[in-house]
Amino acid sequence: MTEMSERIARQHQRALCGFALLLMLLGPSPVLSRQLQTQQVTIAGKARIISITLEGKRHFKNIILDLDDGRAQLVEAKAGVCRTLRSGMRVQATGSWVVASAAARAATGTPRFLVTSVTASGGLQGKPIVTAGSSGSDMVAAASTATMGGQPFRPALVANYLAQRDLSTIIIPFAAIGADGKACPSTQLPQVPVSQVKQAIFQEANRDGITVGSLYNQCSYGKTRLTSLNSLVAPLVKLPCNGTTNDVAWTFSKCDFDDFNGYADAADEALRAQGVVLERYKYRVYLVPPSTCGFVGLGYIGCDGSYTCRAWIGAGFWASPAAIAHELGHNLFLNHANSINTEGVIEEYGDMTGIMGYCCDTRCPSPTQAWQLGWLTMQQLDRASLPPGQTVQLTLDSQAVNPQSGLRINTTSWVAGVDPVFLALRTSERGDKGLASWYSGQVHVYQSPVTSTYDPRPSLWHGGLNVGDSWTEPTAGLVVRHLGSSGDSAAISVCCIGGAETAASCAALRDNDCNGLVGNADPTCAFLAAAKARQVAAASRIRRKPSKVITNTALARPTTPAPKRRPSKSAR
Ligand SMILES: *[C@@H]1O[C@H](CO)[C@@H](O)[C@H](O)[C@H]1NC(C)=O
Ligand SMILES: *[C@@H]1O[C@H](CO)[C@@H](O)[C@H](O)[C@H]1NC(C)=O
Repeated sequence: MTEMSERIARQHQRALCGFALLLMLLGPSPVLSRQLQTQQVTIAGKARIISITLEGKRHFKNIILDLDDGRAQLVEAKAGVCRTLRSGMRVQATGSWVVASAAARAATGTPRFLVTSVTASGGLQGKPIVTAGSSGSDMVAAASTATMGGQPFRPALVANYLAQRDLSTIIIPFAAIGADGKACPSTQLPQVPVSQVKQAIFQEANRDGITVGSLYNQCSYGKTRLTSLNSLVAPLVKLPCNGTTNDVAWTFSKCDFDDFNGYADAADEALRAQGVVLERYKYRVYLVPPSTCGFVGLGYIGCDGSYTCRAWIGAGFWASPAAIAHELGHNLFLNHANSINTEGVIEEYGDMTGIMGYCCDTRCPSPTQAWQLGWLTMQQLDRASLPPGQTVQLTLDSQAVNPQSGLRINTTSWVAGVDPVFLALRTSERGDKGLASWYSGQVHVYQSPVTSTYDPRPSLWHGGLNVGDSWTEPTAGLVVRHLGSSGDSAAISVCCIGGAETAASCAALRDNDCNGLVGNADPTCAFLAAAKARQVAAASRIRRKPSKVITNTALARPTTPAPKRRPSKSAR
């Protein structure tokens, strides 16, 4: 790291202090309500976003601006104002300095900046790669099982550029030890030995278990690797009960951002003194001992290489591959895996099928996010390949067994405001060994607005479909069905509503209303057919009535004598 970026990092750490303290320890403070606000000004700089996960699924985000004059400033905004900001973006933020009272300043250190509007641009950009589905033998094989209107059909394939090949990480466990050799006040010695941390990290150290390494290696199909060759679990670092590092004071008697940033700075310093070359590792994960820090973990959402990429893991999660893989996922530009509850409310960590949902099942990222990372190549449908009233049938291999799996439906190609839909079969095996068994064998439905590797927007899980189940997105007129499964693959249908069934759609065996039925199997078609038959019958009754009567009369006459002839015959 350059001296300049070290300096920025230091200032940044100072800037973090206030916000973290406010949110994590004090909550709404009466002191803050006595703040004075000054006039509107605009500050410019580069953004960094930090995700903070507390126990009990509570969470928040910090926004840091590395200002053009070299200082770093933590900014706060009313809900939504900074929603579009991403790590690495150039930002112009208009707002006002909040001059805290002397008491608040003493507690929080830096003045706060309240943002009322922002403009932002730049940051790492990327685009998914779309292929015609004709190159690469595995692509053709999987895509060729699709049919449209019963005819073989080859959907496009879509993938993202790989987020990171070498997930080179140093994991730094540390303890807080006083001059008496005992744990510092309000801390305890680490409960998890470093040897156990190694077993949670490296596949090489734990061949049959699930580790951070095995999760990344298996879920990415070897594309993003964390191994003992590129990563290190450092020996336990012993820190004093308090100190000042890079001009920032920190203590274990509280846990503001200033403090745990200070622990990280102090741990780095201690390791450097032991000859560890920290710059060998792109990612640094700090394991925090039992203390007043109540978090599961925190990490930068996206690291563009211009600042040290850090994550912190709480005391209860040192040996949790899921917690560590989750925070590293943030560093790789992943946001949280949301779900939506029955009241329509978004649950930040509610997608338990993905590692970016709440801790600690050991499962892969949700398919939306595995696709974002460049790990999965998906079949893709759009308006051209999914015309209204046409049914496409596809086979999906399980995400756990085939890197070409899943389907992306690019709804934005025909309707605004509906995020693309993703479908994937999940099975509890390989990287997904720890996926809850009730999700295994289901085709899961997700939506995600993400358009590239570096697009850190959350994904949304709608649920899993058992065989026979369907899911409808009314605005896009989209209906998907899980038709059947066998082992690691599932047959699905995707249909885009073209309107009510008509005599023509019924006759053509087209499923215009996407109810999964065609021809007379569809009650609407059966009704239309029955109505038509009644009409025809009625019309023919009216037409044929006179002739029928005549015929009957005509027939009746010659047949009438017959019985009379029989007895005469038998009499012979
Ligand atoms: C810092 O740690 C020392 C040694 O444990 C302790 O005596 C001192 O009170 C601490 N200072 C603060 C400000 O916490
Ligand atoms: C999805 O459709 C939109 C609108 O037609 C298009 O701009 C975009 O490139 C498509 N995305 C992919 C990945 O094909």
